[in-house]
Amino acid sequence: MSSRQITIIANWKANLPPSEEVALAKEIAEGVGGALQATGSPSSFRVLLAPSALGLVPVASLLRREYPQAGIEVAAQDSSLSSAGAFTGEIPAVHLVGIAPAVIVGHSERRRDHGESDEVVGGKLARVVAAGLAPILCLGDDLPEAEIATRVAYVEAQCAAAFAAAERAGCSADQLFAAGLVAAYEPVWAIGTGNPASVEIAEAIASGLRSALHRNELPVLYGGSVDAASAPTWFGTPTRRTALDGLLVGGASLHADRFVAIVRAALAATEPA
Ligand code: 13P
Repeated sequence: MSSRQITIIANWKANLPPSEEVALAKEIAEGVGGALQATGSPSSFRVLLAPSALGLVPVASLLRREYPQAGIEVAAQDSSLSSAGAFTGEIPAVHLVGIAPAVIVGHSERRRDHGESDEVVGGKLARVVAAGLAPILCLGDDLPEAEIATRVAYVEAQCAAAFAAAERAGCSADQLFAAGLVAAYEPVWAIGTGNPASVEIAEAIASGLRSALHRNELPVLYGGSVDAASAPTWFGTPTRRTALDGLLVGGASLHADRFVAIVRAALAATEPA
């Protein structure tokens, strides 16, 4: 049985106002808290909720105040390339300290809608690490018809470009790993389409990234049209786990029952046979 930790992240994107994010967090904490208590093995398991920037503080305080036993944390969906200072409207990573232990960096929607280049993604990684937070680096191809090898090469190159840019911004690969870097493979063609990648593709990407980076322990998550019905397939069984370490869930995480079902499926994969 693998001892790898499983991480399940809800990315709520810009779907809900903060009041509704708090209500959703409450429902999820009630469902997930029970599931975690039932297994008794929460240390091999992590659940993070990524609300909008406005929802971070109220959701984090709700979880701490009312559901400390559920062990659910928050993650930021993004942080700025800028440091703290005279940068109107920015959210520097250092301001997330004490609120969100982890930050999503390089989501394809940021790359697409805000023109975030690999250089920007690497600079953000460096800021997140300098703040003492853990980066969740999103990577993904926009090649729906490609062969697996082409896809793997694309994602490896995208990852290498982000690492090189982080290095130029003063953050080495060793520092990224020491900060608790998690990679998330989110193929652009699978996000919000109802058409997830196959487990075979996601596993090939996970293995490719680990061998390219010489880091067998790198956690790799999958994201893109994950839903409750398909959740068990991403983990395998307790005796034969897949190469994946968790899921980054968009649309389905906006429904407490669907997200809790995904968490339960993940828990089932970590329970002793
Ligand atoms: P969907 O689960 O809605 O496809 O979104 C995935 C995603 O982008 C998570 O970051």
